[in-house]
Amino acid sequence: MSFTLQPLPTPRLNRCQLFGPGSNAVLFEKMAKSAADVINIDLEDSVAPSDKDKARALTIAAVNNVDWGDKHLSVRINGLDTPHWYRDVVDLLEQTNGRLDQIMIPKAGCAADIYAVDALVTAVEAAKGHTKAIAFEAIIETAAGLSHVEEIAAASPRMQALSLGAADYAASMGMQTTGIGGTQSNYYMLENGTENRAVHWGDPWHMATVSIVAACRTHGLLPVDGPFGDFSDEEGYRAQARRSATLGMVGKWAIHPKQIALANEVFSPSEAQLTEAREILAAMAEATASGQGAVVYKGRLVDIASIKQAEVIVNQANLIKA
Ligand code: COA
Ligand code: MG
Repeated sequence: MSFTLQPLPTPRLNRCQLFGPGSNAVLFEKMAKSAADVINIDLEDSVAPSDKDKARALTIAAVNNVDWGDKHLSVRINGLDTPHWYRDVVDLLEQTNGRLDQIMIPKAGCAADIYAVDALVTAVEAAKGHTKAIAFEAIIETAAGLSHVEEIAAASPRMQALSLGAADYAASMGMQTTGIGGTQSNYYMLENGTENRAVHWGDPWHMATVSIVAACRTHGLLPVDGPFGDFSDEEGYRAQARRSATLGMVGKWAIHPKQIALANEVFSPSEAQLTEAREILAAMAEATASGQGAVVYKGRLVDIASIKQAEVIVNQANLIKA
């Protein structure tokens, strides 16, 4: 390790983040009863411009009146380039009863975006005598957001998570696609040769995913994969989620209830993964006791780094059990 230790993220589950438009009050009870760890009521892009005031009022009523159980309750406010966001923040903080856990800031482009929202939230919290500090999650979904991802992660002690927003990211980068996440048909390599050339699919979200994970891990935030638009493609969702989990993300958005169980499945360690992690820890405990730093487990090397890898899986399982 560096002399600067890597801070731990807030110890809470974030396997599935379920979204629903703030203008669609029929969904709120269903969202509250779902198996998602995090609820995001949306005031931004799933709400038509003419519905912004109505959605805000319905969302405030839902925060106050729906039984959200122990879910992490978050509201996505409008972007800082709109006339809506300050009213979202002020009304949410002045008119809700302390149940709201988090504000999600879309299209964050630089640390000053987070700073601006922090200043407003801090003023309202102080004026209202709130004792609970609202957490922030920002969405990395623009070229500027990706370029400044680390300063965004470090912008405020309120920051708890960063999500990758595939659709806006693709638009901002000028990517030639209308798909929201997943495989992009034109992103492939062809095997060398002239006949029967195999197609190798690439992952166009890889670089953004890794950048977000690195910024989050450096600053003690939870890295989260965003939406997968085609909610009838369960295997596509699973494959995207598995790639994100492999790269270190802790969860993924659901934009339809069908996707909740998929996210929970992929971001919860399986029994087999857990058993293997425990066996590696046991093997390393034995090795350490006999003064060895590395041993052979099932024909492969495990060493002191393997302890940390296994602990990631065991800690996640403990969090789920708790
Ligand atoms: N949360 C909870 N329940 C939901 C839901 C959600 N996000 N979306 C749909 N449901 C419910 C429906 O009300 C319906 O319930 P019922 O069986 O009791 O009637 C059931 O799940 C099946 O819904 P379905 O008919 O397949 O979908 P739909 O046409 O009603 O809605 C969407 C489809 C995509 C419009 C809707 O899922 C949605 O608004 N998703 C969230 C979009 C969003 O927030 N985007 C912003 C982030 S990218
Ligand atoms: Mg977006």
